[in-house]
Amino acid sequence: MKMKSILVTGSLGQIGTELTPYLRSIYGDDKVVASSLHVTKNCENVTETGPFELVNVTKPEEIISVIKKYDVGTIYHLASLLSATGESNPQALWSVNMDGLNNILEAARENKCAVFFPSSIAVFGPDSPKDKTPQDAVTRPTSIYGVSKVAGELLCDYYHLKYNLDIRGLRYPGVISNAALPGGGTTDYAVHIFYDAIREGSYKCFLRKDSAIDMIYMPDVLEGAVQLMEADPEKLIHRNAFNVSAITLTPGKLAEEVKKHIPGFTISYDIDPVRQAIADSWPNSLDDTAAREEWGWNPKYGLEEMTKDMFTVLRKKLK
Ligand code: SER
Repeated sequence: MKMKSILVTGSLGQIGTELTPYLRSIYGDDKVVASSLHVTKNCENVTETGPFELVNVTKPEEIISVIKKYDVGTIYHLASLLSATGESNPQALWSVNMDGLNNILEAARENKCAVFFPSSIAVFGPDSPKDKTPQDAVTRPTSIYGVSKVAGELLCDYYHLKYNLDIRGLRYPGVISNAALPGGGTTDYAVHIFYDAIREGSYKCFLRKDSAIDMIYMPDVLEGAVQLMEADPEKLIHRNAFNVSAITLTPGKLAEEVKKHIPGFTISYDIDPVRQAIADSWPNSLDDTAAREEWGWNPKYGLEEMTKDMFTVLRKKLK
């Protein structure tokens, strides 16, 4: 049987920029359709290496037309606004994150597509246990981003239960990467610090020195997403919204690691109250046992390996 195509929404974002080429390397360039609301600068590794379409996920007809044109069977739905951006425009976040997801799920139902939905540690809130937050802990977030992710997780579960759609997903912590910058998240400091360390030798951080949030490095993000989508469904007890984590981090701890590569590096703190409040409401660390047991989540990059690789790649890129 001819293999159906894969559609990636938000393909020019922080994760899509790297997930699209990764999927193309596995399934074939012409089998992975990248889509985005706009074309951005330096996006040729996505737009020129296989099919690319402009799709606004708030417009159902645009999603359906691409699904039909390319005979799409799986959607990696990455289009989303992040936590800090959401606080400055909650209505826009709701429209992209919730209407967008609803449109994707409806299109998936009509066309019998599987869906990958990235949720976030943002589903947790002040009432959740702070350390090693369990998979099935209370989810009552205080950011609009978190609210949209909890509602999104539930909507995904509903479409699975009601329509038997194959919908799977993860709760990402902060994602560290070196291709595209993250846009408007609370965890962005853990990427910006590397760029500023190389360019300026110093970094001004918008979170407190001791603000703990888990992180994962992009190669583990890519492998994990595909691993979950390829996993034997019989083994999945949760299927959706798996906690995943690799590195438990604070700005202070990351600064110490950066100093090992840039000896004179200095960090200062200029706290952004909005992002600090979001960070304070999130867990310090996650328990990802369910992901490890049910489908073999096994991240390879710890703090040292990630930092070393970030400097190797970024030193070349920023020359
Ligand atoms: N990186 C995201 C954010 O900070 C968390 O999912 O918004």
